[in-house]
Amino acid sequence: MGKEFIELFEEWADSYDDSVTGHDIEYKAVFLNYETILTQVAKRSFGQVLEFGPGTGNLTEKLLSYGLTVTAVEPSSSMRKIAIEKLQNRANVIDGDFMNFPESNYQTIVSTYAFHHLTDQEKSEAVASYGKLLASGGKIVFADTMYESVEAYKEAIADATEKGFHNLAEDLQREYYTTIPVLKEILETNGFSVSFEQMNDFVWIMEGAKL
Ligand SMILES: C[S@@+](CC[C@H](N)C(=O)[O-])C[C@H]1O[C@@H](n2cnc3c(N)ncnc32)[C@H](O)[C@@H]1O
Repeated sequence: MGKEFIELFEEWADSYDDSVTGHDIEYKAVFLNYETILTQVAKRSFGQVLEFGPGTGNLTEKLLSYGLTVTAVEPSSSMRKIAIEKLQNRANVIDGDFMNFPESNYQTIVSTYAFHHLTDQEKSEAVASYGKLLASGGKIVFADTMYESVEAYKEAIADATEKGFHNLAEDLQREYYTTIPVLKEILETNGFSVSFEQMNDFVWIMEGAKL
């Protein structure tokens, strides 16, 4: 599910950690406060954690530093290779995706910069499955690019185009970035209370608690 963008990550894997540290000018604002974002997601997590789209393992590393146990599900083999080298045997890094993962007694489901690879319909199906998996009090903590409204989303595309950030503008139109009202509806329909906190001009943290 939602694996149509994997080829991009196979190519991006080797230089990904340069992008998150601001070396790619087009993505500098997207990755602004990256370390703080990962720390905030880790701080909100507890118990056994299921992570989607760990990429090179930076959030996984942060979760481990908070003493958490992590199963990290990553569909790109190039990304998995780097994450496994970085993390050694401290986390279980496996193939899979947002809808295909080993079931277990997880308390928190986390993801950073990845949920927009699913269409809104797929996001809804994924959250429905997490709602069945988590017990009351269990959490979804996802950080990703999202917008307060469709108008704000359109403005972001126009802004990227105006700045000459053509890769970013194309990315914003190619992938399935969504709005906070859409995500709120998906979470609430599936039995979660939800809150949102803005981390930079692109990224918000969405925290859902199973009722
Ligand atoms: C921008 S990277 C984010 C990596 C890392 N979470 C971080 O914050 O730096 C997006 C990751 O999501 C993964 N991904 C893409 N489609 C996915 C899917 N359908 N299910 C799970 N992960 C996916 C990509 O392979 C990539 O590793």
